[in-house]
Amino acid sequence: MNKESEKAKQDIRKKCVLSGVQPTGALHIGNYLGAIKQWVAHQDLHDNYFCVVDLHAITATYDPKRLRRDSLSAAAMYLAAGIDPAKSKVFIQSHIRAHSELAWLLKCMTPMGWLERMIQYKEKAIKHGESTCMGLFGYPVLMAADILLYQADLVPVGEDQRQHLELTRDIARRFNDQYCKKKRPIFKEPAALIVQENAGARVMSLLDGQSKMSKSAENDYSRINLIDSPDVIVSKIKRCKTDSHVGLEFDHPERPECTNLLNMYVSVTGRTKAQVLDETAHMTWGAFKPLLADAVVAHLQPIQRTYAQLMANEDYLEDVLYNGARGANVIAEETLRRVKDAMGFHIAKKQA
Ligand code: ADP
Ligand code: TRP
Repeated sequence: MNKESEKAKQDIRKKCVLSGVQPTGALHIGNYLGAIKQWVAHQDLHDNYFCVVDLHAITATYDPKRLRRDSLSAAAMYLAAGIDPAKSKVFIQSHIRAHSELAWLLKCMTPMGWLERMIQYKEKAIKHGESTCMGLFGYPVLMAADILLYQADLVPVGEDQRQHLELTRDIARRFNDQYCKKKRPIFKEPAALIVQENAGARVMSLLDGQSKMSKSAENDYSRINLIDSPDVIVSKIKRCKTDSHVGLEFDHPERPECTNLLNMYVSVTGRTKAQVLDETAHMTWGAFKPLLADAVVAHLQPIQRTYAQLMANEDYLEDVLYNGARGANVIAEETLRRVKDAMGFHIAKKQA
């Protein structure tokens, strides 16, 4: 093939998208608005890989009895939110051995200093104290392996993952520089795909507008889980933190909770910021909270209905995960083979 037709072929190649969520408990509206909703929005355009990152989930204390169930439940939630297995490969990370293997290979060329700078590691290490494990330190390298195995171009994630994406690019570049000197580079440098701040890139806790909504926060009233019943959603929004200012507004430095709740309203109604301001600027909290609760419930209800149907049909879910892993494994094994070859490993002529 001549150079031009090779370039034309690359131009029409669909971009590859990869992302994942940890099965560490029920998914919340931050995971959905920051990550999963974008996966769904772009899935027709790209070649998609969405994994349930169970190997990441064991980097903090966890309950083995729940991991299996939570992994299945996260996959069901991807599908319920609109991921179509005919267009996207949905799989469980630990089903593809190449993730762990590539992570080890990359760990042996990633300077410790790069990992010591990771904000998420520093925050979590303080929280876990003496039980901080090596896996938590190496967590971003496993994430880099997830992404680089599939030559992903785009990685849709929430704002908190931006630094991990930059690290992934640094690792890719270092590997290509070290091991592909006179050859075609093996890894592609992926870009983070992050929604705008007011569209859910960083959904904050219901109890504190300065900290991120998270699965690991102890108080369940700090988040809206995607499987919360309408009553629970209403009650959580009723009890969420507000302030004593009059009227509602975006981006007031002393009103992070107000900005957060208005942003949530923008995201679940699909209206613009200006439309939402028109409707709510004059409102009291007492008037706005039921409006927000109704909008969240209405947005989540169809997702919850499909989720319940999927969780009642485990055979179907297992089939989706099997087919997803089968497709993903082909690409992952091919990348791993090229990496090991470039690193100088002996490649067995016959598989043991
Ligand atoms: P958590 O931090 O709740 O344990 P994960 O670490 O599994 O969730 O994150 C999965 C995805 O959800 C990532 O893309 C992450 O950036 C996104 N995400 C997590 N929390 C939020 C949030 N509060 N707002 C926006 N996106 C979020
Ligand atoms: N580290 C991500 C998080 O905490 C989850 C994750 C693991 C991920 N591997 C990934 C996200 C690969 C995108 C791509 O949210």
